[in-house]
Amino acid sequence: MENEKKVMLSGIQPSGDLHLGNYLGAIRNWGARAEEFDCYYFMADMHTITVRQNPADLRRRTLEQLAQYIACGLDPEKNTLFIQSHVHQHAELGWVLNCYTMFGELSRMTQFKDKSAKHKDNINGGLFTYPALMAADILLYQPDYVPVGEDQKQHVELTRNIVQRFNGIYGDVFKMPEPYIPKAGARVMGLSDPTGKMSKSAPEGCVFLMEKPEDIMRKFKRAVTDCDTEHCVRYDRENKPGVANLMQIYSAVTGKSYEEIEQEFDGKGYGVFKPAVGEAVVETLRPIREEAQRILADKAYLESVYRAGAEKASYVANKTLRKVYKKVGFVAR
Ligand code: TRP
Repeated sequence: MENEKKVMLSGIQPSGDLHLGNYLGAIRNWGARAEEFDCYYFMADMHTITVRQNPADLRRRTLEQLAQYIACGLDPEKNTLFIQSHVHQHAELGWVLNCYTMFGELSRMTQFKDKSAKHKDNINGGLFTYPALMAADILLYQPDYVPVGEDQKQHVELTRNIVQRFNGIYGDVFKMPEPYIPKAGARVMGLSDPTGKMSKSAPEGCVFLMEKPEDIMRKFKRAVTDCDTEHCVRYDRENKPGVANLMQIYSAVTGKSYEEIEQEFDGKGYGVFKPAVGEAVVETLRPIREEAQRILADKAYLESVYRAGAEKASYVANKTLRKVYKKVGFVAR
């Protein structure tokens, strides 16, 4: 069909709570993508067990994260949202693609090198072959685009190599996917150290989407500002990174320009500015938190979302898997 939408797919590791940096930098813009693309998002629970997980935590975080994405604007009516382990074709195609991925290629993956250095006591086979599973995640849905961060680009490149190799042997089975670099949202820095990105590994400077308003306010009141003498709200990334970061956050949640913000706080000092940013963030996150809590409490609804998502995903994934099984020579059932 002529005006059929292009397909986009991305996997999300349910490995931690979402924070303001994730939201303002990326997720906030994902809802609108569904107008242009046919979007698939899945919770990559199978990937997380390459590193040892607490089972109860993994289960809880998978559902919490799904609820948070929906609350951030990923409408399950307009996007296909599912849990990776619910669609068994991922594991099945993953195995096949393992046999078309070279030891040398996997050995060159920087994420493998980093993670095996970090978890020396658990350098398991899954950690090593994970990029073949990721290639299966992608290729099952024949997407045009795969939105990924810098750290995952190498895996998408490997996927492209696998496509070339596989199609070279069997003909046009897989569509060649392109990495999709989303237009950059706000680059939110940590509140306790504005020289590094906001990260859950520095929790005092990190504002989580599900955090209580009083905790958010405390973090903003304690936000590191700059030890220059003027104490005024002026945008200067270089010399006043703390204030610049707060201004960026305030601008992102209120839509005000830096000039308007400078005027608003002219002569008022940081003691007024910091709680104002905190209030604005609290009000932006309040509906998201409340919606996520509502969804989490409504088990039947959440279940209906991930069931419908898995059903739709399986249908598409199965078509690709059947084709692959036939090509490699498995007997049809
Ligand atoms: N590896 C990705 C990450 O660590 C998550 C992921 C798994 C993924 N499968 C994917 C991303 C397929 C894009 C496409 O963030």
